[in-house]
Amino acid sequence: MVEVKGFKEGLEDVVAADSSICYIDGDRGILSYRGIDIHELAEHSTFEEICFLLWEGRLPRRDELDLLRRSIGAERALPPPMLELLASLVPHLTPMDAVRTMVSALAETDPDVADMSRPGNMRKALRMTGQIATIVAAHHRLREGKPVVETDPSLSHAEDFLRMLNGARPSSEAKRAFDMALVLHADHELNASTFAARVTAATLADMHSAVTSAVATLKGPLHGGANEAVIRMLLQIGSLDRVDDFLHGKLERKEKIMGFGHRVYHTEDPRATHLRAMSKALAESSGETRWYDMSRRIEKIMNEEKKLNSNVDFYSASVYYMLGIPPDLFTPIFAISRIAGWTAHVLEQYENNRLIRPRAEYIGPEYPQSYVPIEKR
Ligand SMILES: CC(C)(COP(=O)(O)OP(=O)(O)OC[C@H]1O[C@@H](n2cnc3c(N)ncnc32)[C@H](O)[C@@H]1OP(=O)(O)O)[C@@H](O)C(=O)NCCC(=O)NCCS
Repeated sequence: MVEVKGFKEGLEDVVAADSSICYIDGDRGILSYRGIDIHELAEHSTFEEICFLLWEGRLPRRDELDLLRRSIGAERALPPPMLELLASLVPHLTPMDAVRTMVSALAETDPDVADMSRPGNMRKALRMTGQIATIVAAHHRLREGKPVVETDPSLSHAEDFLRMLNGARPSSEAKRAFDMALVLHADHELNASTFAARVTAATLADMHSAVTSAVATLKGPLHGGANEAVIRMLLQIGSLDRVDDFLHGKLERKEKIMGFGHRVYHTEDPRATHLRAMSKALAESSGETRWYDMSRRIEKIMNEEKKLNSNVDFYSASVYYMLGIPPDLFTPIFAISRIAGWTAHVLEQYENNRLIRPRAEYIGPEYPQSYVPIEKR
């Protein structure tokens, strides 16, 4: 029997690819895209600039950024057959299931679907980045019985998404907060969904297939689904005075508290630093501090009792909620941002590809077992 060695449960700390996209130091709480610290990017950058940085490996010049912004804007409009398909799915699928199904279906109308050249794949990355935001906004409008809002290519991705979702231009505070959330979520090295995308890409399947794998993987509550679980928990608790009992009950029952813990960070998740500040600012400017106050209290208990820090999903929940976004759109919104990282990793995988095919350590019945005919079982 071939001996397979080196199994690490959950592939913890296993290096599975060379990558020049995202650097994380989990002990020091450092995250960078292409070597630029996330704190600087959160302060100064925009989602479109991050797309360029992740895809091209450097910051854009002004003209390059303007072009990319216009191109993503132009690609936001869904081809009419895709809009019809989306409308037919609305009664049957949750927003996240609709995103997963639609990303797969988009291949049907994409003129570059079979073009595996770098320019062809770049066009698909850009197109899907535009389209995924419109899918989320249009699905929500349709389920509410409201007309789909047409895209406005002159606006930033963040602003146009909020406008298409709500039917009105967002405030400058909402626009900036949402753009920063997109910046913070855009990439995170070999997280589960990006790994899934790279595994699919490594078979030389097309980019739509790789992104479909990624969206499906993002859905789970241990990954992107955690932000929705966090707001559901906050809503269930309801008020600050009920936090302690609720949390202690959950911890005694050994239940996980969503939005805490991380496979890679052993200190504060640097994205949580910004989302916490954003949550506080939105709470103070709206005068409704309940969700932020409850979040702070939960965080304090988790720090003290479990020595666990909040992750990206914890404060993004109250941020999105205070921006008036419905809870079941939180994970689809994660996809609106992470599409930038997924496609950057797929491009990188294609550039230096080798099939990703690990081994399993066999723990089943000892070989050889005899085949028992069905009438003798
Ligand atoms: C992120 C996560 C999946 C990492 O998982 P992991 O590296 O496999 O870590 P484990 O699930 O094995 O957790 C290690 C220990 O910490 C505890 N723990 C981890 N996250 C916890 C949480 N959110 N709440 C309570 N306890 C937690 C586990 O129960 C386990 O304790 P034990 O050793 O006594 O059994 C995990 O922390 C988690 O489930 N968090 C909640 C979901 C979430 O927020 N996901 C978004 C991540 S960005």
